[in-house]
Amino acid sequence: MDKSDVAGDLADILITEEQIGTRLDEMAAQIDADYAGKDVLLVGVLKGAVMVMADLSRRLHHPLEMDWMAVSSYGSGTKSSGVVRILKDLDSDLTGRDVLIAEDIIDSGLTLSWLVQNLRSRGPASVEIATLLRKPDAAKVDVDVRYVGFDIPNEFVVGYGLDYAEKYRNLPFIGTLAPHVYS
Ligand code: XMP
Ligand code: MG
Repeated sequence: MDKSDVAGDLADILITEEQIGTRLDEMAAQIDADYAGKDVLLVGVLKGAVMVMADLSRRLHHPLEMDWMAVSSYGSGTKSSGVVRILKDLDSDLTGRDVLIAEDIIDSGLTLSWLVQNLRSRGPASVEIATLLRKPDAAKVDVDVRYVGFDIPNEFVVGYGLDYAEKYRNLPFIGTLAPHVYS
């Protein structure tokens, strides 16, 4: 999708496709170093993390498995409900595994703190988080995040997996929406 196709819906481009790629290179190098000799289970949280999963996993050099979970905390709006439901659970047994959650964004942190606790209760060797985006000013709970791509302002963002009412996920960059789209 070209920017011009949705240009009227966007207020700004916050992070370009190139900036995302460069940052993922750096994050992957760090993860490769940290997990040397380990068999990583990369867990993606549907649907927002699909782009991060695809682009981060291809930059990792050691053998890994990928699994998916779907949780819901938002509905189609822009505010966190704090209520997390498992819509699709992992297929994998986590016993003794080194689990790395790949996420698109940590906003209030409610979803991730719940998810980390849930996965830790399944007997893994470790559970860490790699997120492309984090909104420090929106944090409601402290989440210990090992890898962060970008800290961003407390604004609703779309693109690169992130949606508003299921749209804009296929934008290759991160942008902010013009107020008329959601007001
Ligand atoms: P919390 O608040 O629990 O949010 O950290 C986690 C999930 O909420 C979605 N989310 C967003 N989606 N633009 C989006 O398109 C945003 O700015 C945004 N903030 C939160 C997202 O699914 C995330 O995993
Ligand atoms: Mg998400």
